[in-house]
Amino acid sequence: MKRVYFTTPIYYVNAEPHIGHAYTTIVADVLNRFYQLAGYQTFFLTGTDEHGDKVAQAARAAGETPQAYADRISGLFRALWPKLNITPDRFIRTTEEAHKKVVQLILQKVYDAGDIYFGEYGGHYCRGCERFLTEKELVDGKCPDHGTEPEFIKEKNYFFRMSKYQQWLIDHLQANPDFIRPERYRNEVLGFLREPLEDLCISRPKSRLAWGIPLPFDADYVTYVWFDALINYLTGIDYPGGEKFSRFWPVCQHLIAKDILKPHGIYWPTMLKSAGIPLYHHLNVHGYWIVSESKMSKSRGNIVKPLDLKDKYGLDAFRYFLLREMVFGLDSNFSETALINRINADLANDLGNLLSRTLAMVERFRGGIVPRSGVPEEKDLELKNSALKSARDAEPVMAELGFHKLLMSIWELINLANKYIDGMAPWALAKDPQKAERLDTVLYHLLEVLRFVAVLISPFMPQAAEKIQAQMGIPDPADQNLGSLKEWGRLKAGGQIRKGEALFPRVEEDKKREEGKMEAANIITYDDFQKLDLRVAKVLAAENIKKSDKLLKLRVDIGEERTLVAGIARAYKPEDLVGKTIIIVANLQPTKLMGVESQGMLLAADGADGAGVVLATFDKEAKVGSKVR
Ligand code: MSP
Repeated sequence: MKRVYFTTPIYYVNAEPHIGHAYTTIVADVLNRFYQLAGYQTFFLTGTDEHGDKVAQAARAAGETPQAYADRISGLFRALWPKLNITPDRFIRTTEEAHKKVVQLILQKVYDAGDIYFGEYGGHYCRGCERFLTEKELVDGKCPDHGTEPEFIKEKNYFFRMSKYQQWLIDHLQANPDFIRPERYRNEVLGFLREPLEDLCISRPKSRLAWGIPLPFDADYVTYVWFDALINYLTGIDYPGGEKFSRFWPVCQHLIAKDILKPHGIYWPTMLKSAGIPLYHHLNVHGYWIVSESKMSKSRGNIVKPLDLKDKYGLDAFRYFLLREMVFGLDSNFSETALINRINADLANDLGNLLSRTLAMVERFRGGIVPRSGVPEEKDLELKNSALKSARDAEPVMAELGFHKLLMSIWELINLANKYIDGMAPWALAKDPQKAERLDTVLYHLLEVLRFVAVLISPFMPQAAEKIQAQMGIPDPADQNLGSLKEWGRLKAGGQIRKGEALFPRVEEDKKREEGKMEAANIITYDDFQKLDLRVAKVLAAENIKKSDKLLKLRVDIGEERTLVAGIARAYKPEDLVGKTIIIVANLQPTKLMGVESQGMLLAADGADGAGVVLATFDKEAKVGSKVR
C-alpha cells in the first residue's frame, strides 16, 4: 500500500489565522486530496502550538489565563479549516495530555543518551522567534524577522548537545539532496552548518516562565517551546506504540514557510537522531505571501483574512488563486486585483465557458444526451493526447510540489479544448445531417476532456469539480480518480446532461452591480465606516471667535490636544462647554475658518422643539481619546 503523511506547522495561538496560515494548510489539503486520488493511504495533521512566552504574554494582554486563551484561539483555527474545505485527519494541541507525555518521554531518551547537560548561558533572546539569536543573525543589533532588539538574558538552563550532530547532519544532507527542498533552502541550512553549531537551550526556569511542559528530570524547569512543538508530529500519529506511527512516520512530509527553517532543518533532525528515531522523509519549504510590500503582521496592519476573501470571491477561487499564483519556494505578492484577474480570465472565461458552451451544445444538438464517439480525426487525437499527458504528468509534478505547473498544464488543456470548439464549429456541423457522426465525435471529445479536467482540479477546487461532475451527470463521482484518467473514453455514452448555473461568475460585473445597489440606497460598507476616526474628546477651553456670532474656538483633549472651530455659539456659551465630554471626527482634513485652523469636527444634532443645536455626549463617563464605534 502506498502511503504518505503531511503536516503543517502547528500555529501559535497568539494571533488569529490569516492567509499565510491558510496557504500552508490549503497546500497540505491539496496534497492530501491529490494523493488520495492517486490511490495512497494518507494522513494529514495540523494543530496549534500553545506553550511558551509568546502565548503567555498574549494571554496576559487579553486578561485571560493561558489555558482559557489557548482554548479560545485554538478553537478559531480548528473552526476555520472546515470552512475552507480543509479536512485534516487530526487537529493536535500541545496542551493535550497525550502530547505532554510524549515530550517527556523524548526528553528522557535524549537525557539518557547523555545529550542533555546543565549550564549557564547568556545570549540575545528574541521573544518573537522564541529563541536565542546568534550575533551573526542580528542586523543592526535587531532581529531581522521582527525588527526588534533582542533582550540579553543570562541564566542557568538545560542544553541539548546539538553540536555533536553537526557533521552527521551535513553528511545526511549531502547524501539526501531532497531531504530539504526546494534546493535553495537545503543550501541555506548547509550555509548555517558551515559555522560551528551551538548547543540548544531547551529549558526555561519556571520562575521566569511557568507556561510549559515540566522537564521530567527537573521540576523547576519547563521545556523550551520549540522542543515541545516539533514533537507534535510524532504525537499526532500516536508515537511510540501506535500503529499509525509505524505506517506513516517513514513517509512523513513536513510543510512550512521559510521563517521556521532552522528549527525544522536543524533542531528537529538532530533531536530525532539523539532520541534514536528515524528522520522525516521531506521538509518542504515555501516563501512568504507579501501584502503591500511586506510580510503580514498585526503591527503593520496588513493582515489578510481568509474568510473575508472566501465570502467575497468564493472558496474555490481563493484556493485556486493561492496555488496558481505562488511558485512553491518563492515569495509572492498578494493583491485582490490579481485574484480578480485570475477569476475572470482562468475561471469564468476559460474553464467556465468551456463547460457552459459544451453542455449548451449537447443540450441543443443532442437533447442533453452524451453521444457516442465516431472514428477520431487528427485534431481529436491531439486533444485526447493532451488530456492523457496532463493526467500522466500530474503525479510527478505534484511530487515536486509543482502546483502552479500542474494548474498551467490543466489550463493548456482547457485552452486547447476552447480552440477546438472554435476550429470544429459544431454549430456548422449541426446544420448538415451528413455530419451527424462528426458532431457526435466532437461533442464526445469535449465532454471527455471535461471529465479529465474535473478530476485533475478536484484537489484544488473540490466544489467546482463536484459541480462539473453533477452537471455532466457522471453517475459515480467516487470512481473518478487518477486511475480513471489512464484511459481515454471512460465517459459512458447515453448519460444525461443537466446544465446548471455558471461555475464562476465574473467578478467585476457582480461588484459593479453591488456598488450600484449601494449607491442607490446610499449605503456605505463597514470598511467605509471604519475610515472615520471618531473620538471621545474633553473640552479644555472655549472662546468666541471675534467677528462671528456663530463660531466658537475650542481646545479639546483626545489623548493629544486639538483646536476645533464649531458653529455652536448661538446655542452654547463658552463657559458651559469647558469640562464637557463630546464626540469629534478626528481625521477630517483640517480647514481654516475665520483665520483659525480647525483640526476636526464635533458631532451635534438639531434640538427638539426648535431648541437649536445640541451636542452629542455620553450617558456615562467615557474614556477620553477612545474610539467611538
Ligand atoms: N508555532 C510555530 C510552528 C511550530 S511547528 C512545530 C510557528 N507558528 S506560526 O503561527 O508563526 O506559523 C508560522 C507558519 O505560518 C509559517 O511557517 C507558514 O506556514 C505560515 N505563515 C505565516 N505567515 C506567512 C506568510 N506571510 N506567508 C506564507 N506563510 C506564512 O511558527
